[in-house]
Amino acid sequence: MHTDTAPLTARRYGPLKGRLRVPGDKSISHRALILGALAVGETRILGLLEGEDVLNTGKAVRALGARVERYGAGEWRVHGVGVGGFAEPAVALDFGNAGTGCRLMLGAVAGCPIAATFDGDASLRRRPMRRVLEPLERIGAHTLTSSEGRLPLRLAGARDPIPIVFELPVPSAQLKSAVLLAGLAAPGETIVIEAEATRDHTEKMLVHFGAGVRVEPHGALGRRITLAGQPELTPQPIVVPADPSSAAFPLVAAVITPGSDVILDGVMLNPLRAGLVATLVEMGASIERVATRNEGGEEVADLRVRAGALRGVEVPASRAPAMIDEYPALAVAAAFAEGTTVMRGLKELRVKESDRLASTADLLRVNGVVVEIDGDNLIVEGRGRAAGGGLVATHMDHRIAMSALVMGLASEKPVKIDDGSFIATSFPGFVELMRSLGANLS
Ligand code: S3P
Repeated sequence: MHTDTAPLTARRYGPLKGRLRVPGDKSISHRALILGALAVGETRILGLLEGEDVLNTGKAVRALGARVERYGAGEWRVHGVGVGGFAEPAVALDFGNAGTGCRLMLGAVAGCPIAATFDGDASLRRRPMRRVLEPLERIGAHTLTSSEGRLPLRLAGARDPIPIVFELPVPSAQLKSAVLLAGLAAPGETIVIEAEATRDHTEKMLVHFGAGVRVEPHGALGRRITLAGQPELTPQPIVVPADPSSAAFPLVAAVITPGSDVILDGVMLNPLRAGLVATLVEMGASIERVATRNEGGEEVADLRVRAGALRGVEVPASRAPAMIDEYPALAVAAAFAEGTTVMRGLKELRVKESDRLASTADLLRVNGVVVEIDGDNLIVEGRGRAAGGGLVATHMDHRIAMSALVMGLASEKPVKIDDGSFIATSFPGFVELMRSLGANLS
């Protein structure tokens, strides 16, 4: 995969109009396959994201002994093997571009008495794994890595997993989830403490499958999560809501493209994922929540988005966990605002699919926007417009690719990206869906 690069160009054309539903949430899709594989019996999933990242997680759980079958678009069934029941895989587990799939599966395998090789593409091979391996070793797993805790690595799961108390050193839902998934196989209570609350899909889905999970407040912003070990996970139907991180692209495109009026159907608005919508509203965007409802245990709403003037704002560091994947899209919106937008506390952006702090700044800069990185903060000087005309280096990063194309829809000159092939990791059909709104992408 990804042997061919796919350059794409976005041009200003007319307003964006119409209604669409973005694909299923990536975080929930990974977890549905993994918990389905750890439950005993058949888990039915509707609306699974069929992006490459999630498909790689499906292949991994299959290699570990679960049966994974596709019945139709987004409709999947997983026959799980039970907590601790994974079989030793005959092949290396290849997670492609997906940090989430890899880190969550490291946790899931760490509680099983088997060994497995974990690998990924060049982007994933550069990303830090030590943060996950350290607690997994405390639980009793052994790991062998080639260089400084990066992929490829070999993990031997614990024969007798030990429950641990783990304080997250960084606000990372992947890390929290890896420890909880490993803790499933340990007797007693596994406790994860986070100073700032991060997305809670693992905790919620564990409860949905019948595990004993207690969530208590910790400090001003944090949580303490206690998992009772060795539960019998009972399969439950899962309905995957539309991914707010994918909705971010048509959302920002509609806000910055004059005359636009778009409805995004069924977008998940879990409070730990909804930071972008809150920030855009503070900037003056017209985003109306229509038909707020519950889907698959999550709050969802149709979002009616209309173009309009934006003003620069200060985005506090405390909001970063609730919109960590949305900063590239927000930075594009900030360029089209009037005034300065300061986004604080973006350290974790440096270890995403690319150094996303640098690649976001570069994407704006090559398109004539004044932008500065100050420590862990990103500062964008909004002028209400952008020159465009740049060729954006996407660095194997789907969100940089889509953000650059969104920018091109409202810039004076076209914006080109070097490679759109990674868009399929999280948002298959992006180009077609954006074209259905009237976007000029070629
Ligand atoms: C994710 C957590 C976040 C996010 C990623 C998905 C998850 O990563 O960036 O896209 O599903 O748990 P970190 O945990 O590294 O912040």
